[in-house]
Amino acid sequence: MDTQVLTETATALVADDKGLLAMDESNPTCNQRFAKLGIPQTEEARRSYRELIVTTPNLSKSISGAILYDETIRQRTTDRTPFVEVLVTAGIIPGIKVDAGAKSLAGHPGERITEGLDGLRARLAEYSQMGARFAKWRAVISLGDGLPSQGCIEANAHALARYAALCQESGLVPIVEPEVLMDGPHTIARCGEVTEEVLHAVFHQLYVQRVVLEGMLLKPNMVLPGLACPEQETVEEAADATVNCLLRSVPAAVAGIAFLSGGQSSELASARLNAMNVRFQTRLPWPLAFSFARAIQQPALEIWSGQEANVKAAQQALAHRAHCNRAARCGDYSATMESTAGEQ
Ligand code: G3H
Repeated sequence: MDTQVLTETATALVADDKGLLAMDESNPTCNQRFAKLGIPQTEEARRSYRELIVTTPNLSKSISGAILYDETIRQRTTDRTPFVEVLVTAGIIPGIKVDAGAKSLAGHPGERITEGLDGLRARLAEYSQMGARFAKWRAVISLGDGLPSQGCIEANAHALARYAALCQESGLVPIVEPEVLMDGPHTIARCGEVTEEVLHAVFHQLYVQRVVLEGMLLKPNMVLPGLACPEQETVEEAADATVNCLLRSVPAAVAGIAFLSGGQSSELASARLNAMNVRFQTRLPWPLAFSFARAIQQPALEIWSGQEANVKAAQQALAHRAHCNRAARCGDYSATMESTAGEQ
């Protein structure tokens, strides 16, 4: 294992106040999002949409790396240039989602375990050969009556650590993503308790599996009230709850933290990340960045709606969200940026 290369890649992914663009929706997830907007759920529609993303002008001003999906990493633009080549030419590091999705966990109704460890070593070798330099694995933890169980937390933490060790063996930086879901009426305090418990379990397993913390990134949820919770805390309260939770549970050696958006609106995700950086940046051991999918893509997807004529406007919306999130990394984001879209 070349720890220097891993550390350099991990550091590059969170350098210059940039962040990651997750464009790694599985085909079923991508199709669901297309269906809501009346976009055909075909391989060609998915390819066109991903071409729109990777060819967005100036994307690399705010985006350091893009997470691709197995179908996408094999695709090309209309002029036959591989997407990976387009990204590298633009100065964006290609990455790849390598988990095989979250499936029902036996004996644990309502809970899921992420699969994909079988054959992973060979798949990582192939992706690395195709140009990927980092990978992502997402575990999901549901909150509810009696949930999450110890069994679910431990099984997912173990799988995340096995995945991360295999990535580092292959020279790929693992993005470790334990997502405590926002669905449900739980309070912010409950989300904080569970997130802390999950992160402790994950970092224990990463230690046991000998994962080099300097050569990985953590992709956590923010600590937030459930989407159906009647009390929704302020942006500042959410920022404090999130950073305090991370300070208690994430070792200082980790190269960086890049949040998922998890179903927040684009504007709230930017505002919350901004508040964390305004209030804590000077006293944190790791950079706080972003690795959003929906919170960067959703406005662009809605504008595109499958229509070639909308590509340019959709690309402007995508670049705008990326720009807002880069500003949030510096604590420079404000709501006024939303009314000046297109001026960056
Ligand atoms: O695994 C999920 C994505 O990488 C992040 O997606 O920002 O829409 O939660 P999201």
